[in-house]
Amino acid sequence: MAKIYVTRMVPQSGIEALKSKGYEVAVNPEDRVLTKEELIGALKGQNYDALYCLLTDKVDSEVMDAFGPQLKIIANMAVGFDNIDTLEAKKRGIMVANTPGVLTDTVAEHAFALMLSIAHRIPESDKFARAGKYVGWAPMLLLGNDLSGKTLGVVGLGRIGSRVAHHAVSGFDMKVLYNDVNRNEEFEKEFNAIYLPLDDLLKQSDFISIHVPLLETTRHLINAEKLKLMKPAAYLVNTSRGPVIDEAALAIALANKTIKGAALDVFEFEPKITPELLLLDNVILTPHIASATEETRSKMSELAAANIIEALEGRNPLNLLS
Ligand code: DGY
Repeated sequence: MAKIYVTRMVPQSGIEALKSKGYEVAVNPEDRVLTKEELIGALKGQNYDALYCLLTDKVDSEVMDAFGPQLKIIANMAVGFDNIDTLEAKKRGIMVANTPGVLTDTVAEHAFALMLSIAHRIPESDKFARAGKYVGWAPMLLLGNDLSGKTLGVVGLGRIGSRVAHHAVSGFDMKVLYNDVNRNEEFEKEFNAIYLPLDDLLKQSDFISIHVPLLETTRHLINAEKLKLMKPAAYLVNTSRGPVIDEAALAIALANKTIKGAALDVFEFEPKITPELLLLDNVILTPHIASATEETRSKMSELAAANIIEALEGRNPLNLLS
């Protein structure tokens, strides 16, 4: 009987799918991230056939060493997979899979929730109202900015970036600029979108939404120099991976108001947040919850399980990365 280790409690539907196949499923009983030593300790000598892991688990060669030769698949319940050494897995003939597609709409919605919240000053206004400061309608009270008619720069035109662009055009009459490693002429035609080099996109956009994976080439893609290119009235939104932005440089840009605002779901040193950001009103911070809806997290759990089932039944998982 195949054995699977799940690094943390996840939506039950995925676990049930695995159990329905008769697999032995061991779930870390503690609802927290295991340290590397704890994870290795839980795996050693157990002969697991599959690892079901999360973006908070660093799966490197030492963790892979803790498995026997029967390990077939590492299934990440996330679309991002920078936590896994995929090259090392490939060398060892271990399949790696992720969960794209099922979270596209949810993350795109969250990017818009962040964009709307920062531009309409929602958290600031909520704080103001709860503090009993609202004494009557006032013509200049908490003025924000419209999205409608503005220019959105999408950095990274994968599934999520494309969906954000779709909402921008069809929901808010925004003009879309985009940057990616590949041009997509079909997308350009459909959304009247314009491809630009990153620097030009940063100079021309009112809102910038980041959707690139974390790679060596995208680490600190948005640094002090790039932040200086942005308009003083621009807003920056990040729902991809924290290290894509130099968080210290962003905190300085926000404090000095060289850009107008930012909204972040991901952080450079998660779960730590650069303390300077916590003091600023022109930034919104959500704790990496862009895909966190009941519907989507269940689908992610089911897809991670489906990837494992495919691999254990001798087929390629639906979302094979390497
Ligand atoms: C992912 O799946 O990579 C997301 O960051 C989860 O919210």
